[in-house]
Amino acid sequence: MQQTEQKSHLFETYKRWELTFSHAEGSTVTDKEGREYTDLMAGISVVNLGHGDPDVIKHVEKQLHAGWHGSNFFQYEQQERTAELLTKLTGLDLVFFANSGTEANEAAIKCARKYTGRTKIQSFVQSFHGRTYGSMAATGQDAIHQGFGRMLEDFEYLPYNEVNALEKAVDENTAAIMLEPVQGEGGVIPGDPAFIQKAAALAKQHGALLIVDEVQTGLGRTGTMFAYEQAGVEPDIVTTAKALGNGFPVGAMIGKGYLQEAFGPGAHGSTFGGNPLAMAAVEGTLQKLMSINAPKMAAEKGRFFTNLLEEKIASLPAVKEIRGPGLMIGIELTESAAPYVLAMQKKGFLLIAAGPNTLRLLPPLTISYDDLEKAAAALTEVLEK
Ligand SMILES: Cc1ncc(COP(=O)(O)O)c(C=O)c1O
Repeated sequence: MQQTEQKSHLFETYKRWELTFSHAEGSTVTDKEGREYTDLMAGISVVNLGHGDPDVIKHVEKQLHAGWHGSNFFQYEQQERTAELLTKLTGLDLVFFANSGTEANEAAIKCARKYTGRTKIQSFVQSFHGRTYGSMAATGQDAIHQGFGRMLEDFEYLPYNEVNALEKAVDENTAAIMLEPVQGEGGVIPGDPAFIQKAAALAKQHGALLIVDEVQTGLGRTGTMFAYEQAGVEPDIVTTAKALGNGFPVGAMIGKGYLQEAFGPGAHGSTFGGNPLAMAAVEGTLQKLMSINAPKMAAEKGRFFTNLLEEKIASLPAVKEIRGPGLMIGIELTESAAPYVLAMQKKGFLLIAAGPNTLRLLPPLTISYDDLEKAAAALTEVLEK
């Protein structure tokens, strides 16, 4: 098919696929030509309830006619209710609403530094925390820092899952240890519970904070509402975004009550943070995630899918390891993952890579067992070649 060269007016910050999104429903995405794809990426761990969840839409629709924006000079009952839900889900006390994952992490970094009066933050090699200067500095990947000048000072990148290195590095100058309970962008690398427990203990021992970045892992995906629960720790700060509004742009920093002394009036802010439409999306999403017991759903489907993959593809020469909790699954390959992503697309399945060699599967938690079986069969065919 002859394609006419069309000049884009967008910065090429993304390597886009030859695929134009038209609409989506549940676990099915349809392109401009009407071709349907089974969604195994959920907009990068965003639409945990599937596309176009009718209950979330109803919630947002109601707010659409009641006012889009007032500003944080007003009190909003829905913002309060939504914050209360998040504190109940985490056992934490207070919420700051932002608009994205990187913003939630910026709030966490600022809060930790201001509360402790210290600047050193230990994060981890291969981590990903976002693209703004603070979150980018926390991200332990050189490629993401390159070309942007001197990073924000006092970030230290330690090897992930290595308790000894952590023990040596954390001291009375540490403001916070910041970690993903499963490194997502870095290659779907699950944190060892003993490692996460050590981080929590060291933070406590040295008067530092434990910041857990649940932007990708949160809201049911890994088989619990938040992945840190599986290590049995109590973070001081949890950040969340992505699935929080089931696709509506929103983020949140949830923290212990004592942090209030550092985060009083003027300490931080956002024009749009806690916006009424976003709050409607979050309230609708959280209520639905709880009512369908999304974590249990992810745990059961994750077990089913992982077992199927173990059975069908684990012994193939291209496959090195299958790993990850719930419906956050990485298939590490012995070679580049990119061609397999495209081969799966040709078969009608959408997925993404993590790191250079890992296929990342993050389907909506509502995906059917039938779709998971079809996805496993397609992966088998593609990886056999
Ligand atoms: C763990 C983690 N933190 C933060 C972010 C940044 O979130 P956002 O793209 O919404 O700024 C991401 C995005 O992939 C992420 O995976």
